[in-house]
Amino acid sequence: MAIYSRISGTGSALPARRLTNADLVHLLAARGLETSDEWIVERTGIRARHFVDDGVNASDLALQACEAALTAAGCPLSDIDLIVVATSTPDMVFPSTAAILQHKLTQSALARGEAGATGGAAFDVQAVCSGFIYALTVADALIKVGTARKALVVGAEVFSRILDFNDRTTCVLFGDGSGAVVLEACEHDGTGAGILATDVHADGKHTGILCVPGTVSGGQVLGDPTLKMDGQAVFKLAVGVLEDAARAVLAKAGKAASDLDWLVPHQANIRIMQGTARKLRLPMDRVVVTVDQHGNTSAASIPLALDQAVRAGQVKSGQLVMLEGVGGGFTWGAVLLRK
Ligand code: UT7
Repeated sequence: MAIYSRISGTGSALPARRLTNADLVHLLAARGLETSDEWIVERTGIRARHFVDDGVNASDLALQACEAALTAAGCPLSDIDLIVVATSTPDMVFPSTAAILQHKLTQSALARGEAGATGGAAFDVQAVCSGFIYALTVADALIKVGTARKALVVGAEVFSRILDFNDRTTCVLFGDGSGAVVLEACEHDGTGAGILATDVHADGKHTGILCVPGTVSGGQVLGDPTLKMDGQAVFKLAVGVLEDAARAVLAKAGKAASDLDWLVPHQANIRIMQGTARKLRLPMDRVVVTVDQHGNTSAASIPLALDQAVRAGQVKSGQLVMLEGVGGGFTWGAVLLRK
């Protein structure tokens, strides 16, 4: 019997403040910029997104998502020996959002009279919109080698903090949110629930097409700390590499695309999802789509979509599910699992 890691619970969190496309049309008009609901829906599929209020950080959204995932898994926080947070919008330069989250989870558990989580490993993974795929890959590997038994794997983002609201080509695309899963060790012969294959890649020569070029030095922000994207270049690369990653995990697990019950892709643009589904000959009714309501929440988008699909009764136990992501770096990857 080999050790596998399986998702035993999912959770997610969205900030209360919801902005429709019409709200953004007004916001941008006040800055002398023109956009429209028609343009945003037609080019991206996005109708609304959520933004945090001042003072709310990635770890606050992650806390809510993790507590929902722990409840769904029936897992006490004290069993957790690994926390991996995928984020490009951390609370601080350091320590990691994962370490901050561990403390917030513990404080919250203690307030309920339950034991906290201290002493396990906690760290962040930075792979922008592919971050959750990277985080899941790392947590799966740590469970398989016996370093961890029960992990919280989280995507948490406050992208509204790094948007340039004078750039209509990017600020209409992104939103804030968090999704989390409890990943736990289990033993079987390869026929049970669990992560069956992972595949992650990066190609740093594409750094410039999607980046936040600013950094902190000498007590000041050096360079521009807002998101820059060459949308068309990202779009073209995304469709190609997502197909490659999808085919790679299917081949590793000895499965065909037609075996898939669900594809849960990174939620950047409905047209990218349709392109991937077409290449895999997968009907769109097997693709989980939340981009219309969340926008692009970067590393949070896949676990957010997964949690919503699980809670809506779409993704069920025993089904074959593919998660896949692509983003700045350029990074991309996929995870194939039996729920
Ligand atoms: O999460 C990481 C991965 N990120 C992505 O996957 C994003 C990938 N890229 C995309 O999703 C698309 O390229 C965008 C949605 C960003 C842009 O769609 P597009 O079809 O590639 O549009 P475009 O950049 O070619 O722009 C078409 C036109 C331009 O006007 P002209 O030059 O044709 O007159 C833009 O100036 O649309 C204009 N435009 C807008 N118009 C109204 C750009 N942004 C807006 C806007 N409202 N917000």
